[in-house]
Amino acid sequence: MEKIAIVTGGGSGIGRAAAEKLAGNGYRVTCCGLDRDDQWAPEIDFVRLDVTDDGAVTTFARRFPAVSALVNSAGIILHEGKEFTPEGFRRVLDVNLVAAHVMSVALTAALAAAKGSIVNVASVYSFFGSPRNPGYAASKGAIVQLTRSLAVAFAPLSIRVNAVAPGWIDTRLAAGALQNPERNTAIMARIPLGRWGTPADVADVIAFLHSAGARYVTGAILPVDGGYGVV
Ligand code: NAI
Repeated sequence: MEKIAIVTGGGSGIGRAAAEKLAGNGYRVTCCGLDRDDQWAPEIDFVRLDVTDDGAVTTFARRFPAVSALVNSAGIILHEGKEFTPEGFRRVLDVNLVAAHVMSVALTAALAAAKGSIVNVASVYSFFGSPRNPGYAASKGAIVQLTRSLAVAFAPLSIRVNAVAPGWIDTRLAAGALQNPERNTAIMARIPLGRWGTPADVADVIAFLHSAGARYVTGAILPVDGGYGVV
């Protein structure tokens, strides 16, 4: 039977790399998100979907009777103090946290039908405070507890739920830090493996967590950060 994978935020960055990796592993992949890179693998479907639109998410989910892999990668970070405003803080929580829950619940029956698994995308900011981005850090802290909670809730359905916690990955979301010489120097100084990560570095771990090799792994939060979190 064909294995189906769904990747939110799959049009770019980490989500796109995960989609390509899963497609390479034989999954039929549908990505959803607000936008998509210009260069695009024709075998991967893309659906424009705002994951904070609950009704649209429900309609989207109904298309899939059985889903083997869900990757919740849609995410945003707001700059210039916007996460200190009520609307900015709420917006980040809605995209990074609430939408992952709504999508996971909308696809629960389909995931159960395939004995599938979910991988959420946490962050090093799941563990550290962020002076500039309290909404981002709060959303990523909470996605850890959402991952553990759904792992327990869905285990009787044979659905595994795990998360990756990427460090500094070269995507447009982190471009501000990468291109700021002062911040980049400080970041590089504490990455033991001595380089920024690539989307493929994270995608490989996402694919592993979805694979049979991880069949006894659920509720795990796996750092993919070159050692940033342990120094
Ligand atoms: P990205 O900007 O390339 O990807 C984010 C994706 O989310 C985009 O494709 C965008 O269309 C989608 N998106 C945003 N709002 C949406 C909405 N309302 N509905 C549907 N889709 C929406 O950036 P990146 O880095 O690939 O981010 C992916 C995930 O990785 C995010 O959850 C981010 O927080 C997380 N992450 C990234 C790190 C990094 O250093 N780049 C580090 C740790 C975590």
